[in-house]
Amino acid sequence: TEVPVAVVGAGPAGLMLAHLLGRAGVDAVAVDLRSRAEIESTHRAGILEADAARDLVETGVSDRILREGHEHEGTELRFGGRAHRIDFRALVGASVWLYPQTEVFTDLADARARDGGTVHFGVSDPEVLDADTDRPRVRFTAADGTRHELRARYVVGADGSRGMCRGLVPEELRVRHGTEYPFAWFGVMAQAPASAPELVYAHSEHGFALISRRTETVQRMYFQCDPDEDTAAWPDERIWATLQARVAGGDGFRLVEGPILERTVLRFRSFVQEPMRWGSLLLAGDAAHTVPPTGARGLNLALHDVKVLAGVLLRALGREGEPALADYQPLALRRIWRAQHFSSWMTRLLHTAPGASPFELRRQLGELDSVVGTRAGRAYLAEQYTGWPSSR
Ligand code: DHB
Repeated sequence: TEVPVAVVGAGPAGLMLAHLLGRAGVDAVAVDLRSRAEIESTHRAGILEADAARDLVETGVSDRILREGHEHEGTELRFGGRAHRIDFRALVGASVWLYPQTEVFTDLADARARDGGTVHFGVSDPEVLDADTDRPRVRFTAADGTRHELRARYVVGADGSRGMCRGLVPEELRVRHGTEYPFAWFGVMAQAPASAPELVYAHSEHGFALISRRTETVQRMYFQCDPDEDTAAWPDERIWATLQARVAGGDGFRLVEGPILERTVLRFRSFVQEPMRWGSLLLAGDAAHTVPPTGARGLNLALHDVKVLAGVLLRALGREGEPALADYQPLALRRIWRAQHFSSWMTRLLHTAPGASPFELRRQLGELDSVVGTRAGRAYLAEQYTGWPSSR
């Protein structure tokens, strides 16, 4: 099959790219190792920037987010046993949407099917060949066992942080930047009504906790844990005791408890690989960079990458030709490093490093106090959390 663009990875980044190209009359075929059901049942982040939400609606993916998503005009930071609201609307005139990534994926997969875009889920043995030439190919075995070859002009690697595409860039050209954290998140789905109207990011001497939501009856919560923690050692009572201790305070705030439906340990790190382009291969989203989850930047950043990339690819496939590709990395990277900074900063601001000294713990409270206790501090957090317009 001849196709202008072949996309490896059919998560939100790969599918949004294919959708944006398709809207401009350019075919893109996407392939993914995972089945659609597998992607739809893997819980990921829950927060979309208002700009990303608007893009889903305005580019014709779906307007379901407006009906089933929830606009949040602020969030709460809890520490020292007290709540501190960050009012996004009042501080920076912005908001975010609570709309799980799995729903974004479903909307995109449905939009591809509706618009006649080809997506192969559940493929095996994908290979990218001749990425350094102007005739790259993607070979794979489809779910029905047939072998396929896509002959493309460009190949996009949107196959996530554990995908194969980033490794196609030759070792001598790859530069990798990153850092690890001495903690992970213990994520749970709880069958219970919401405990608070907005998200709660809690710092305590026992560690971090995040109270998010999913539906009227199911809530998403996370707490800081050891990266090697074993979920089998965590019966419901222990999970609730841990979460309650981390949000407890003089105001008497308590979480509404219920059965734990799912428990997973989520490891994370900060990572950026350059270059984001090698020959006819372009990397987007987590294939090129990952952020720790605090602040929910990952999905938003991936969607920004593909917005920039779609524009650059359309120029490259049109009159300008290949030189247009040179614009991709600089346009994407500025926001990537802002998000790297913000995600890392939010993570360090709110988590408790194992073995942190009394000085460090008090310094951290001083930092938290200067974030919530000054207008500039609150506005800084609000501006970073709600995202930046893509022109900035
Ligand atoms: C969620 C995840 C995040 O990392 C975050 O910062 C906020 C919300 C979530 O899964 O709902």
